[in-house]
Amino acid sequence: MIRIDHDKKKQVTIKFVYSGKEFENADWHGLPNAFDASFLQSFPLFGHGDDKVLLVGLGKYQLFERNMSKEALAKGVKELRDFGFTEFNVDLLPLLKKCGLNCLWDVVEGITLGLYTPKSYKNEEKEITCEVSLQGIEPKDLLQAEQCLQHAQSLADSVILARDLVNAPANKLTPEKMADAIADAGKIDGLSVQVFNEDEITQFGMQAYLTVAASSANPPRLIVMRYMGDSQSEEITALVGKGVTCDTGGYCLKGSSTMLGIKGDMAGGAAVAGTLRALAKNKVKANVVGIIPSCENRISPDSFIPGDVISSMSGKTIEVVNTDAEGRLLLADAVTYAVKQEKATRVCDVATLTGAVVGALGFTTAGALTNDEQVWQQFKQAFQTSGEKYWRLPIFDEHRKMIESRIADVKNIGESYCGTITAAAFIEAFAEQRPWIHLDIAGTAWVDKPVFQYQSVGATGAAVTTMYFLLDRTEL
Ligand code: BES
Ligand code: ZN
Ligand code: ZN
Repeated sequence: MIRIDHDKKKQVTIKFVYSGKEFENADWHGLPNAFDASFLQSFPLFGHGDDKVLLVGLGKYQLFERNMSKEALAKGVKELRDFGFTEFNVDLLPLLKKCGLNCLWDVVEGITLGLYTPKSYKNEEKEITCEVSLQGIEPKDLLQAEQCLQHAQSLADSVILARDLVNAPANKLTPEKMADAIADAGKIDGLSVQVFNEDEITQFGMQAYLTVAASSANPPRLIVMRYMGDSQSEEITALVGKGVTCDTGGYCLKGSSTMLGIKGDMAGGAAVAGTLRALAKNKVKANVVGIIPSCENRISPDSFIPGDVISSMSGKTIEVVNTDAEGRLLLADAVTYAVKQEKATRVCDVATLTGAVVGALGFTTAGALTNDEQVWQQFKQAFQTSGEKYWRLPIFDEHRKMIESRIADVKNIGESYCGTITAAAFIEAFAEQRPWIHLDIAGTAWVDKPVFQYQSVGATGAAVTTMYFLLDRTEL
């Protein structure tokens, strides 16, 4: 629990220090020479009676940016928890001085995500909860700070919702259970969650999606979340997230070494659920529909096989060349559904779509591809605010040619190269010329070795905060 609280004395206080002159002039007792307050360097000063302090370095004042607060906070709270403390004061003055009140977004995210531990299935595991008091906010700013804290907490909790869904093992989170979990988390004023079963999906004509779903005995669920927060606007943004709760590759079976990550193939869907939840909680002025086609990609007597030609909701025929390129099949239908059924005026789809994006950009930067300059500019502002990293890749006509099929309207893979681009080109073909942006989070949704302090092994909750700020423009 995070509170703004000046008086409450906690077990220990986190104090942030900039390196350079300011640090050298301060009178800290008992510090070793090696501590110079460089970014994320920390030092415990616990030997002074009741006044226990953990120093956390911020690096040079001039180089410090608001987003860096996230890591600084995560570092501090994690370290104190490891020391066995459960109550901390945090002196925010140095951060407020450089970044203003808006740093509360990052402070709250850093604390919440830093203290996050994935759900454990061990028989005996104690949950540790921590109390955090934020200090250093001026009385005149209290009202604004309280509101910012509340909004930031809803957003951070929504990142955690996404992480929890992605971390859940595939046998505990079938499409049906994913729909139940999202319906449960979506019980918020102004947000509606509708879940369609296989028969209803059939009535929509979503044949490409159903083809993948038929590979498993666990039936699919199409999860639709609607939040209409701006009655004056005709704009409806669709957030479409891949919800493959288990991707074995199907008949183009994955190798055993790449199997372990297959439960996380619904990270795009989880991100959409998290974003819709935060938008509704914070009553953001925007109209948004979240669409999550959820199913499994397995092997069964009914499975599709390479060489099959299938149809789709749009009417376009698709040659299946590789059954492991399943995500784009469900996304194609979900994008058609967004435009035709939900009357979306622009579309953002998000998916753990290609191994190629990991090869190109690694584990900290996701791929973004779009057909619209204005959407790109807005998206850029959004990820500058969230602190996530995206890199734009192009789609040229020669890339579109790569997915032309001899026997159908399109085929589901291109040649051996630029797999992230051809995957995006495939989905673009179903966007009906609407402003559209595609996020490939295959590299950023999951970390085996955490890179940032606010990450833990497993799901990262990628894309929630950026999609949130794409729609909540008041904080930019
Ligand atoms: N879900 C995978 C992509 C993926 C790969 C996610 C690695 C996370 C980590 C997707 O369905 C897939 O298997 N894509 C194939 C496409 C290929 C067959 C054209 C890939 O990228 O290897
Ligand atoms: Zn696959
Ligand atoms: Zn997949």
